[in-house]
Amino acid sequence: MQKRVKTIEETNLLAMEFVKMLKGGETIALIGDLGAGKTAFVRGCLAAMGFEGAVKSPTFTVMNEYDVDFGRIQHVQHLDLYRFTLADEIEAMHLGDLHAPNAIMFVEWPNVLEEELIRPDIEVRIEIEEEGRRIEIAGDRFQLAG
Ligand SMILES: Nc1ncnc2c1ncn2[C@@H]1O[C@H](COP(=O)(O)OP(=O)(O)O)[C@@H](O)[C@H]1O
Ligand SMILES: [Mg+2]
Repeated sequence: MQKRVKTIEETNLLAMEFVKMLKGGETIALIGDLGAGKTAFVRGCLAAMGFEGAVKSPTFTVMNEYDVDFGRIQHVQHLDLYRFTLADEIEAMHLGDLHAPNAIMFVEWPNVLEEELIRPDIEVRIEIEEEGRRIEIAGDRFQLAG
């Protein structure tokens, strides 16, 4: 599905619909230019899952983790691989070990490396438009009305 959102509030509404579709265990790739709103989308998803604290960009921390209580989902990992230049660095993070059925993982810049170290279940593409953003969500196991 795809949707045009003019404001952060509209992004947050879409995020609310999005998280309802998650079962747990998904890896979600976030694709879009710097400033497209990838982190803002994750922030909206966490708010929709009841997380009340601050959600900061993992640009420098590489990975931020949050505990939530949203159905089967208890943990949310948020990664930003923008600064990664070596496959080894990512492998050293043992991302596979993080992949638990009660967790979901958001990954900004999953494609900085040629190697397919991240295999997303869902892709969220965000494009900046004159007025707002165009958000496209795609994935095999994923359906969203509208
Ligand atoms: N409709 C919208 N959806 C998401 N972000 C928006 C929207 N309109 C404006 N913005 C702004 O765009 C910026 C997106 O920043 P950020 O989420 O950090 O981008 P990225 O993580 O893709 O680099 C934020 O300052 C946000 O307020
Ligand atoms: Mg970001």
